[in-house]
Amino acid sequence: MGWRGILGFEYGIVQAPLGPDISGPELVAAVANAGALGFLRIPDWEAPDYVRELIRKTRALTDKPFGIGVVLAFPHEENIRVILEEKVAVLQVYWGECSQDLVRRAHENGVKIIPQVGSFKEAEKAVKVGVDGIMVQGREAGGHVIGQDGLITLLPRVVDLVRGRDIPVIAAGGIVDERGYVAALALGAQGIALGTRFLATEESFAHPIYKQKLVELQETEYTDVFGRARWPGAPHRVLINPLFMDWRSFPSNENESNQPIIGRSLIHGVVSILFVTQLFYLIKIRPICQDFVKILIFLITDHHYSASSQAFNVTYFFLFFFRRKKTFIVLLVRFQMQRQLVISKAW
Ligand SMILES: Cc1cc2nc3c(=O)[nH]c(=O)nc-3n(C[C@H](O)[C@H](O)[C@H](O)COP(=O)(O)O)c2cc1C
Repeated sequence: MGWRGILGFEYGIVQAPLGPDISGPELVAAVANAGALGFLRIPDWEAPDYVRELIRKTRALTDKPFGIGVVLAFPHEENIRVILEEKVAVLQVYWGECSQDLVRRAHENGVKIIPQVGSFKEAEKAVKVGVDGIMVQGREAGGHVIGQDGLITLLPRVVDLVRGRDIPVIAAGGIVDERGYVAALALGAQGIALGTRFLATEESFAHPIYKQKLVELQETEYTDVFGRARWPGAPHRVLINPLFMDWRSFPSNENESNQPIIGRSLIHGVVSILFVTQLFYLIKIRPICQDFVKILIFLITDHHYSASSQAFNVTYFFLFFFRRKKTFIVLLVRFQMQRQLVISKAW
């Protein structure tokens, strides 16, 4: 099974960059210390000194490599200059052109570069300019969603596209546990990127109420209703909460700029007015845990997975052969319960 590391990291698990400032040094360092690839998220404005500070703060918390995510739709040149000077291990880019020049500059500085794409066309462009890996985002993803394809259709196409090249494909969108991991591997990915799941960990910088609502609320919807003024043409997946229900049927000419201000917050150290967009993205979740990476690896390892499924197959064969269906069902339920127990203990 291909769950082992990608891009020189111990594991194929990636903590996606989480804007506006949710994936900070604490989360990224915790992920790095667990052997996975974590991405810092820098501001959506030029702040080179602050970006350097973020990188150094992360380095003070881990001696392992990590990455940094830049949304190219916002001003970024100075920030990227600092990222390359600091030789962060991996630069992740999203929502903008991952140009040949950017790839060349990254490589000259010994920095690997991976774009997050939401379509086959974008993946083709990325391969042409010589990227080191590709994050494939399906429409199931939490946060902003760049494409229309579901992961199950887009991922194998990109896997086929890069066949024979040394470009790991990382699946993103709706993956929260080892079942999603196995499914992504079956579709040909070498790694998985989780956003929402890492958002709800102790180390993430998300507000506690946000984490709590992720656990409490059940349903999500794909919409463009939030952030139309700040980031037009950027749809996102949100939690269905009372506020979203109020906003859901806004006419398309309405946006947050003529809505009441509901509060202020520090985002990347800058006082920001909070309209709703910055508080309420998102999606479904599981309980909070700090050692998620290790648990995921434990649950997916060849040993655990194949040992349990072999035991299951032998039992199935035996009981089916002797037509002891009732016993089989009891055992099946027991097996599932034990498995759940392992999972819930671990989580
Ligand atoms: C709150 C939040 C913020 C996000 N911010 C970014 C970002 O700044 N840059 C980026 O490339 N992706 C961002 N994403 C998307 C992730 O990269 C990834 O595609 C997504 O989280 C995967 O789906 P999942 O949330 O179901 O795991 C964000 C996702 C969430 C949930």
